[in-house]
Amino acid sequence: MTKQTVLTGITTTGTPHIGNYLGAIQPAIEASLNSNYNSYFFLADFHALIKCHDPDRVARSTREIAATWLALGLDTDKATFYRQTDIPEITELTWILTCMTSKGLMNRSHAYKASVDANREAGRQDDDDVTMGLFSYPILMAADILMFNADIIPVGKDQIQHIEMARDIAGRFNHTYGTLFNLPEAQVDEQTQLIPGLDGRKMSKSYDNTIPLFSPSDELYKLIKQIKTDAREPGEPKDADSSTIFQLYANFATAAEQAQMRSKFDNGIGWGDAKKELFEFLDSYLSKPREEYNRLMNDLGFVEQQLLKGAEKARSHAAPFLKDIRVAVGIRPLTWQGGSTAAAAKKEKEQSAEQLARAEEGRRRAILMQLKPLLDRVNSADDSATEAKRLIAEKAAEVESLKKKARQKAQNELDLLREELAALLV
Ligand code: TRP
Repeated sequence: MTKQTVLTGITTTGTPHIGNYLGAIQPAIEASLNSNYNSYFFLADFHALIKCHDPDRVARSTREIAATWLALGLDTDKATFYRQTDIPEITELTWILTCMTSKGLMNRSHAYKASVDANREAGRQDDDDVTMGLFSYPILMAADILMFNADIIPVGKDQIQHIEMARDIAGRFNHTYGTLFNLPEAQVDEQTQLIPGLDGRKMSKSYDNTIPLFSPSDELYKLIKQIKTDAREPGEPKDADSSTIFQLYANFATAAEQAQMRSKFDNGIGWGDAKKELFEFLDSYLSKPREEYNRLMNDLGFVEQQLLKGAEKARSHAAPFLKDIRVAVGIRPLTWQGGSTAAAAKKEKEQSAEQLARAEEGRRRAILMQLKPLLDRVNSADDSATEAKRLIAEKAAEVESLKKKARQKAQNELDLLREELAALLV
């Protein structure tokens, strides 16, 4: 079977924090070790210009993010790790796709609409401070994805709409010029959406509640001391699950370590002591990669070289593919002779059948990945056949209880689970 391609981009406007690490960087690096996938990870520095007009900040963030991924052990021979702006083919494709994107689709973009809403609320003109970069941001993102015919796009919830737009744009292109693009699927990991920040809300740059991944020890401790707690005194039992301190700890700790910490909460550990424990634990967990990060930040020539190596790998795919795309839309050398011979038409048909199958397989996998907790439940049960039957019955009942659209989605999931567990359901 052809390998699936996983691709994701990181906008270079901020300093990597613990939420980025747990939610995106660590799972991506782990997935890149799986030889069933081709991984493309890139620094979306053209995207950075959309929301940040501070050149030093964009440049600093680009250095920090690149060094972070390398410090955490990304293998740049296995994964293709590059900077968006090193791939001119992406920018060229953006224009071609722009001509395949209806303005109405962009009008519906959440990112653009949020700016319009904010303007209305403040009594300003709808498009105040809205650049064409912001308006057509989803097209650049579609080019990032379609350039590499990616199947699976791991992203946060806020990006799902952009992946759907990429599918729309690809579909329109394929329909007009012949099938060249695969239709990508978003992959959203529900669990890692829940990393809390200092104030207990989701850790996010926009809430200003983050813990930078590689803060020096003293700063790390200072930040941890700012974590919001309630007024319970030392000695009073505390609920681990609703505590930001415990949740952050649990995301790094083994099951045994978590159980131990949980019993300390039950036994009334003081907030100050709990923070101290979290600090000591994180500080030692992060000390090795932090050392490596600091080393790399002092050896940026090496980091640059790694990115250029990635760009070369990425372009070895992008350049010939863009040639095909240009030919498909009619940008051809004057002497070009090709056209749709019967053989070419047949080949195209076969190819699109294969691409359809690939897209279908991508869709299947993306749904299965979201259903993984359910499958794990079956796999870890003593009697997995009984558990499988119970699971299917529960899911079938859920389908019954739902209406139209939600029902179709649940029905698809049920069908997939039935297929996946077929051996246990006889
Ligand atoms: N827009 C994405 C974000 O802000 C980053 C991004 C740019 C991206 N291009 C991409 C993510 C392509 C996935 C695929 O998070």
